[in-house]
Amino acid sequence: MPISLHAPLDMHLHLRDGDMLSRVAPLSAHTFSGALVMPNLVPPVESREDVLQYKSRILEAIGDARFTPYMTLFFKPTYSREFLESVHDDVTAIKLYPAGITTNSEGGVSGFDVEELRPALEAMSDLGIPLCIHGETGGFVMDREAEFVPIYEKLATHFPRLKIIMEHITTKESVEALDRFDNLYATITLHHLIITLDEVAGGMLQPHLFCKPIAKRPEDREALLRVALDAHPKVMFGSDSAPHPREAKECPGCAAGVFTAPIALQLLTELFETNGASLEKLQAFVSGNARQIYHLEPQPKEVVLAKEPFTVPENYDGVVPFYFGTTLDYTVHTVI
Ligand code: NCD
Ligand code: ZN
Repeated sequence: MPISLHAPLDMHLHLRDGDMLSRVAPLSAHTFSGALVMPNLVPPVESREDVLQYKSRILEAIGDARFTPYMTLFFKPTYSREFLESVHDDVTAIKLYPAGITTNSEGGVSGFDVEELRPALEAMSDLGIPLCIHGETGGFVMDREAEFVPIYEKLATHFPRLKIIMEHITTKESVEALDRFDNLYATITLHHLIITLDEVAGGMLQPHLFCKPIAKRPEDREALLRVALDAHPKVMFGSDSAPHPREAKECPGCAAGVFTAPIALQLLTELFETNGASLEKLQAFVSGNARQIYHLEPQPKEVVLAKEPFTVPENYDGVVPFYFGTTLDYTVHTVI
C-alpha cells in the first residue's frame, strides 16, 4: 500500500549558497513543502537585505517547484527593537549559535548573560519571533548538549513568552527539559534517530556520519525515538541536512554535517513502520506539529511513497548522502 504524506516540512535545513545551493535546493524542494533555512553562510545572514537576497537566490535555484523557504537571521545580541520590527515579516525565526561551536558560527554569542540578551529577546517575545538555538557548550564533546540544558532553562525562565526551539536535540536530558517549560520545543534529525556514536567511530571512522552535535549513547537515541514516534506535540522534524563537498568530508579535518535531505522521507517512513508507529504520528512529526508550533500554512503537496526498494545513490552531484549504497524499503513514487 502506498503511503501519502501531506505538506512535509523540514524545520532545520542548510541550503548553502552558490553552486552548492543549486545542487541541493531542488532535492528538498522536490519532496518538501517548505523548510526553515539556516543562516550560517559566510558571511552570515544578518540584515534584512541579506534575508531578501538569499531568499531570491533560493527561489531561483528551485525553479518552479512548490516550496517555501522559511527564512532565518543569524542572532546578534545587538539587534535593536526597530531592526527586529523591520524584519519581522521577512523571517520565520532567528537562529542563535554559541560563538565558534559549529560550522560558520564564529560571530555567535558568548557568555549568555541575560541582561545583555534582554533587549533583543524581549523584542522578539513581543513580536512573536521564535528563537532557534544550537545548544552546545565548549565542554567535552559528549557532554556539550547536556551542559547546555541549564542555559535553555535560564532563557526559558527569564523570557517566558519567547518560543525557544532546541535544535537537533541528541540527548535524554534535552528530551526531559521539553516538558519542564511551556516555551521549550525541539527539532529532531533523522540521523540522530538511527545512529549512536558507535556507528560514527566504533569501527572504521565514518566521516559521512560526523556532525554537530555528535551522535550520543543508545539511551539518548531511545529517548529521541520515543518522542518522535509518539509525535510529541513539542517536537518536529528538522533534518539538519548539512551538505559538504565529498572532498571536505573525506579528508583530515572532516567538516561536520550529515546530508539527508533527498532520502529523509523514505527513511522516516521505514523507521516509523519498523517501529510500529502509525502514519498519523509520522504525518504529525513531519508536518502537523511544525504547523502548530510555527503557525504555518504550507503549500499543498502530496508525497506518495511506494513500498519499492530504493538504493540510495553514492552521491548527489558530488555530495555523499546518509545511507549511500543502502537499499531502503520506500521510494518516492509521485509528488502531487
Ligand atoms: C552544520 C553545517 O554544516 O552548517 N553542521 C552540522 O554538523 N550539523 C551546522 C550545524 O547545524 O551545527
Ligand atoms: Zn544545522
